Formats: sequence, structure tokens, C-alpha cells
Amino acid sequence: MDQVYLNGSFLPAQQAQVSVFDRGFLLGDGVYEVIPVYKGKCFQLTGHLERLQASLDGVRMKNPYSNSQWKNLLEELVELNGSGDQALYLQVTRGVAPRDHVFPEGVTPTAFAMSSPLQAVPEKYKTEGAAAITLPDIRWQNCNIKAITLLPNSMLKQQALEAGALEALLIRDGYLTEGAASNAYVVIDGTIYTAPKDEKVLPGITREVVIEIALANNMPLLEEAVTEPQLKQADEIWVSSSTKEVVPITVLDGEPVGDGIPGPVWQRMDALYQQYKQNGAV
Ligand SMILES: Cc1ncc(COP(=O)(O)O)c(C=O)c1O
Repeated sequence: MDQVYLNGSFLPAQQAQVSVFDRGFLLGDGVYEVIPVYKGKCFQLTGHLERLQASLDGVRMKNPYSNSQWKNLLEELVELNGSGDQALYLQVTRGVAPRDHVFPEGVTPTAFAMSSPLQAVPEKYKTEGAAAITLPDIRWQNCNIKAITLLPNSMLKQQALEAGALEALLIRDGYLTEGAASNAYVVIDGTIYTAPKDEKVLPGITREVVIEIALANNMPLLEEAVTEPQLKQADEIWVSSSTKEVVPITVLDGEPVGDGIPGPVWQRMDALYQQYKQNGAV
């Protein structure tokens, strides 16, 4: 996975260089996407490119490429890195300019993309589930923008890791928003709840797939946030992201969730999700 893309060129990663005046480096002024690739094909590329545009609009940054230009360059990068399963990462920053908080005029954005091996989802998550802890949502008020400024997320994820957990489930104003790097779902009496799309959560592409699958298969799903007490009494909890798919959380804050094993609603969703992936929906 040595080949990367930078500002119009494909080159080995160790030769790719960005200025120290890049606003991504100095100010965290950029947005990004992570796209899974299965058997050489980008999964849900349209959704990812639409969300990229929304993030760019959210920070008033120009998209350096059209969607077909993005598609071509990402497909070329996948091929250069040997096709198969990959995790694509792309990032756009506002570009190189003298350091100033105010947005510079007439600057060319920096466009970067790389690929890494897509780690298979550990079998243990599927058979036993994973642990999570609850933490206050310390992030900013624009979580719908997929910004590269991930220090709060990183601190939350680190705290989860140090507590022996996979993920931190975030509480804002008494309600569950999402995970530090995932969307969250709670199953109560057979109904799946996930927080609505607003500035408090990232509009996850996997979340869209989960909702589409639920609707197509008559699985009750409501885009409604649950309270912390509801979360703690849930029958099932799941988290989702592009690279981890849908993972059941079976231990929350050290206590078993429901029966303490991956629940029947998750089992059904996971089976349908695997089928959806096989069908290669783009
Ligand atoms: C905060 C946050 N929410 C949700 C997600 C899931 O988004 P997606 O399904 O598009 O990967 C991510 C992914 O990294 C994330 O960082």
C-alpha cells in the first residue's frame, strides 16, 4: 500500500511531502473520508463523496475535484495498491498560506489520498461482542462535519482503550449521541433507535446502510436519541463504522448489556449487512 495520491500525482508514500505552512498541519483546517474497498471496488462511494461535499460546504472550502475526478483517482489508487480489500483515506485541507486564523483568499486546496489494508473485523466481536464505556461528549457543535481536528475523539478513544473497551459512547445533555469513531444504536423492545442526523452526530455512511436494510426488511427503526438511563437498560447496543461494520456492544461500563451476548436483532442485521456487501452496492 505504498502508493499515495497528492495534488495530482501518484507517488510512493515516502516521497509525498506537504508544506509546514499547510493549514491542515498548522490549524487542523481540513476534512476527510474513510472508504472501504471490497474486492477492488469502493463501497458506497457516492455517499462518501456526497458527505465530503457537505463537509467542504460546512467549512466553506472548495472541492478540488468533481465526483468523477475523485472516482477516477481513487480507483487508480486502489489499482496501484494491488486491488483486493483496502481502506481508502482521503483528506482535503484549505492549502498552504501564511498562518492566520482567517480563511485565505485564492489558495489551492491540498488533496491527499492513501490506502491501507482493510483489517478483517475480529471474529471475537461477532461471537462475544465488545465493551464500551460512557463518557461526556466533549466535542464541538459541528459533529456533522467530518473534520480532521480529531483531538477530542482521540482522547475519548484513548480513555476507552485504557478502560479495556473498544469504544466510548458519548452523552450530551443526557442523551446518547454516537461513539467516538462510530454511530450508535440501541435496541429496546425490538425497536432500533439511533440519534437523528443533526450537528451532534456524524452522518455515517454505514448508518445509512443500516437504516436502508432495516426499512427493507421490516425491522422497526426510529431516528430518535435515547436517554442515558434508556441506554443503560437497553436489550442490545451496537456501533457502526465503515471499517468495523456493525459491532455488538455486550458490556457497558462493566455491566452486561441485555443477556451479555450479541442479540438477535444484531444477528439479523449483521447477516443482512454481509449480504448487502456481497451484492456490492456502490
Ligand atoms: C464520530 C464518528 N461517527 C460515526 C462514524 C461512522 O461513519 P461511517 O459509517 O461513515 O464510517 C465515524 C467514522 O469514523 C466517526 O468518526
